[in-house]
Amino acid sequence: MDRRQFILGAGAATLAGGGLAGAWQVRHASASPLALKLQKARYFLTEDITENMVSLLPDAPPPVIRMRQGDLFSADVTNGLADYTSMHWHGIRVPNKMDGVPYLTQFPMAEEETYRYSFTPEDAGTYWYHPHCMTMEQMARGLTGIIIVEERDPPTVDADIAVNLRDFRLKSNGQFEDKLFTAKGAARGGTKGTVITANWQRKYLEEAPAGGLVRLRLVATDPTRIYKLVLAGAQGMIVALDGHPLSVKQPLPTEKNSLILSPGQRADIMLRMPDGEGQEVLVSTLLGYRQHGLVRLKGRGMTLKRDLRDLRPLHPNPLSEPDLKTAERHDLIFGWSPEGNGTRNGFCGSFGYTFWSINKTPWAGDAVQGTQPLVTMKLGRSYIFRLQNESPNQHPIHLHGLTFKVLSSNLGAVAPIWTDTVLLRKNEIVEIGLVADNPGDWAFHCHVIEHQKSGLAGFVRVV
Ligand code: C2O
Ligand code: CU
Ligand code: CU
Repeated sequence: MDRRQFILGAGAATLAGGGLAGAWQVRHASASPLALKLQKARYFLTEDITENMVSLLPDAPPPVIRMRQGDLFSADVTNGLADYTSMHWHGIRVPNKMDGVPYLTQFPMAEEETYRYSFTPEDAGTYWYHPHCMTMEQMARGLTGIIIVEERDPPTVDADIAVNLRDFRLKSNGQFEDKLFTAKGAARGGTKGTVITANWQRKYLEEAPAGGLVRLRLVATDPTRIYKLVLAGAQGMIVALDGHPLSVKQPLPTEKNSLILSPGQRADIMLRMPDGEGQEVLVSTLLGYRQHGLVRLKGRGMTLKRDLRDLRPLHPNPLSEPDLKTAERHDLIFGWSPEGNGTRNGFCGSFGYTFWSINKTPWAGDAVQGTQPLVTMKLGRSYIFRLQNESPNQHPIHLHGLTFKVLSSNLGAVAPIWTDTVLLRKNEIVEIGLVADNPGDWAFHCHVIEHQKSGLAGFVRVV
């Protein structure tokens, strides 16, 4: 099938070719909802075609979904799989009912059921989507996709390239391992995949105009891997992290100063391609001391001779600044769990053991009745959470529905960035500040999916 001719059924969205470089893209720009259906897929991740993958498109990666800041987005998500599911829009401040968390905000969707998600993204930037039910299965098999919320007034670039970074855990014959996750992994740093990909390719190559300006969106959707990214061959800067523009831009990552992207995190990079046709920009991740190439951008045509200084800066998103003087403080401690077997309840899968806990309590399971919020907040008030990692492993801690600001760390100076996912390193204590400006019950968990499913999960309440 020719990817440039592909059209999504409903007519509500078309796959854009040409101007939108990168993976499959759908643009939602109409009143009728986008039709998205979970389905099995097969794909050449290696020389052998991998069966039993999960996507939203026939035998292709989940599409990059484009929406526009301030415009209504809606999608009818249909479950074409035998297992239950739900869909979550990571990092986007949606109304609670649209958040896709089973039992907390909606019932899991059975086979052939459809749920209409609709919301108006207030914040522009790079986000992503993934199921929140049967996550260990469905995410491991491919169902993680990028969302681009276009600015009302986007900076003009010559190419906008979105890259979905993730692994797959395959055997040497290209088929999924029988155990997508192991107990040994879940009790420690997580179970890593065996095949590292970018947009489902082991060596992702994309052309971009020589001497042109490129917006490169890197999205870590892997259930486990913490990327240490290095970029070579271009001038430029990091302009946004986790969707939100940086007030002070950061330099491009180098081997000495790599960019850490942990599961769930994103980076927007503005770069200028080298002038020569065929010259390349390389994005790699560090595996120990070795650089492993992920993405190559190759210069095409005569140089456009563009200048990075011509780029219009991104406008900050409309986030409320927490009032640190009046903020109420709460401690949240992430650590081991008292021994437990975990409950196998509900339809959304569980690890079967608990290894992890928040404030000494492992999450009882998505479907357990009567679970209590970790913190109850008053709508409109400011809060400071003191997040403490009591374990030797790293945890990307993610909060739904509310965007927070990183205030401090016991391990050194931190940039005061807005985010939805903060990586806690070994024995780290990070303080975050937020305004409880979105009512509802919001999931709060580690984004190493095995940790989440073996106890490191909970929720907060805003009323
Ligand atoms: Cu990206 Cu609760 O998830
Ligand atoms: Cu989320
Ligand atoms: Cu974790």
